[in-house]
Amino acid sequence: MGLFGKKKRDLPVQTPDMNALPKHIAIIMDGNGRWAKQRHLPRTAGHSVGSETFRKIATYCNDIGVKYLTVYAFSTENWSRPQAEVTAIMGLLRQYVLEAIDSVEKDNIHLRFWGDRSRIAPELLELMEHAEKKSERMTGIFVNVCLNYGGRDEITKAVQKLAESVKAGSLAPQDITAELIGEHLYSAGTPDPDLIIRPSGEIRTSNFLLWQSAYSEYYFTDVLWPDFDERELDRAIVSFQSRSRRFGGVDAKK
Ligand code: FPP
Repeated sequence: MGLFGKKKRDLPVQTPDMNALPKHIAIIMDGNGRWAKQRHLPRTAGHSVGSETFRKIATYCNDIGVKYLTVYAFSTENWSRPQAEVTAIMGLLRQYVLEAIDSVEKDNIHLRFWGDRSRIAPELLELMEHAEKKSERMTGIFVNVCLNYGGRDEITKAVQKLAESVKAGSLAPQDITAELIGEHLYSAGTPDPDLIIRPSGEIRTSNFLLWQSAYSEYYFTDVLWPDFDERELDRAIVSFQSRSRRFGGVDAKK
């Protein structure tokens, strides 16, 4: 791909069927560092543009009627990045949360954070909880921002809680079902993602929504996240709409 993302613009424009949208779209916002490097900019500049892309895509999803959007903003492994980069990402998140506190009601956004909150700075955590509280009665799009999130960590914590109930005698091991495990995840109450998008050419799941992605459709593109736009999302949705989802069964039309 060229410096200015020529490849995606060469592709024909595709229009999704707005009556058959995926209910839940999840995105691994990848490629910010490479986008910056290509422009001889610091990696943090890529995250800054990436956070604008997130706003643009969340607004578009809300406008067209996607009901749930989940984004991977910071993983349990991302703490190993240089301190300055971690601080910059946390700063961008803080900026977004501050804006959200003012705008979630007007935009009808139900905002939630998924992840382990124990390592989040108290000041940011307080803002996150304030934003969640302000948005909890909103009926438009549900936006889930995964922060200090790891799929294995999420499942491990759920198993620990269930083990405590078993130890306390309030739960029998044979009563542990997939549904019960699901109720102990950050995503409790949210339908599984229909479509998971990973930009930037990487083809792996990177510990994102491990449990919830059992029957998700994946869409991979070489476009880097800062270059991702509404048309690219349309392409992902059109691709999703061409798939035959069988959930382990057979195609009813065949
Ligand atoms: C992955 O790209 C991106 C991240 C680890 C951070 C994502 C954070 C944001 C987009 C900003 C804050 C988010 C919100 C919701 C306001 P990478 O750095 O791994 O890219 P590379 O693989 O090209 O190095």
